[in-house]
Amino acid sequence: MNRQEWLSKLSALKSDFDRAVSEKKLSQDIERDFLSKKGSLSLLLRELSSFSIEEKKELGSLGNDFKKSILEYLSASPDNISKSKVSSDLDLTLCGYPYPHGSVHPITATTEKIISSMSKLGFSLEYGPLVEMDYFNFEALNFPPDHPARDMQDTFYLPHKDERGSDYLLRTHTSPVQIRTMQSRKPPLRVISTGKVFRSEAVDASHSFVFHQLEGFCADKNISMSDLKWTMESFIKDMFGSAAKIRFAPSYFPFVEPGAGVEVSCVFCSSHKGKCPVCKSTGWLELIGAGMIHPEVFKACGYDPMETSGFAFGAGIDRFAMLLYGITDMRQLFENDLRVLKNL
Ligand code: PHE
Repeated sequence: MNRQEWLSKLSALKSDFDRAVSEKKLSQDIERDFLSKKGSLSLLLRELSSFSIEEKKELGSLGNDFKKSILEYLSASPDNISKSKVSSDLDLTLCGYPYPHGSVHPITATTEKIISSMSKLGFSLEYGPLVEMDYFNFEALNFPPDHPARDMQDTFYLPHKDERGSDYLLRTHTSPVQIRTMQSRKPPLRVISTGKVFRSEAVDASHSFVFHQLEGFCADKNISMSDLKWTMESFIKDMFGSAAKIRFAPSYFPFVEPGAGVEVSCVFCSSHKGKCPVCKSTGWLELIGAGMIHPEVFKACGYDPMETSGFAFGAGIDRFAMLLYGITDMRQLFENDLRVLKNL
């Protein structure tokens, strides 16, 4: 390429640039077309390497003047969008589209309420494994092998045995946490535990093969049934309001003696005038199993039952959640229906 050709190439590029400006090309496109590594002006300036020193000076300065004018144009108009019609429709002060946000699941919310309520009474939180050993789930809790009480809690067994030759199973209740805690710590103890439990149950409005339990126990000196009653009453009033009353009915669990069912006065009767579907108009709801810890359980944990006494209680968290949130069918808790999840 000689000097004359170079100059006419430059003037062609100038006309290209004027056209791009009049067509309101985007500044990023203009920059790419002229100034990028393979842009037309960059390529033309590179041609100067084969010219004489005088020509390099003369043509280089013409080329650089043109480059400068492009850069000035680009910096004055950093983005041609601001001049286009689109920009006049774009209102950056408008709110965004609302995005649905999640909420805490009723079971999680109820579990948190329970934990906070029990912590006010001085109970700390422990967790236990969901895959449990027969020893912790049954045997140490005074359910010997073949004891008929095992039938109350049929479960899912795993095809493995532990080093004692005891089966692995999905825990049927949170009571094994009592044993695990007492075997690793010394009294005085005030402990609760929450979590999933499993039973071989057909699913219906009030049963499921997986549900959630609260466990609590106290082990100390001179603990009596009146400590259990006071604890239950304080807890229930905190959960359902100060108008709630409790009463004890006899019940059976192998790991407590005596055993009790703690019934709570139905807080829904008043809004159902006569026919209450929640308590079936009995006025009471059985919500908690409880009792004084059996001497055999203390022995299995290495405690002397003549020295240590205590109470234990257990309750279904799903049942509490249903009462607190007005859910009538347990299955609704697990179907991820947004109407249930949002209505909180
Ligand atoms: N573990 C018992 C159950 O699941 C409940 C319970 C716990 C009863 C503690 C008494 C004491 O049915």
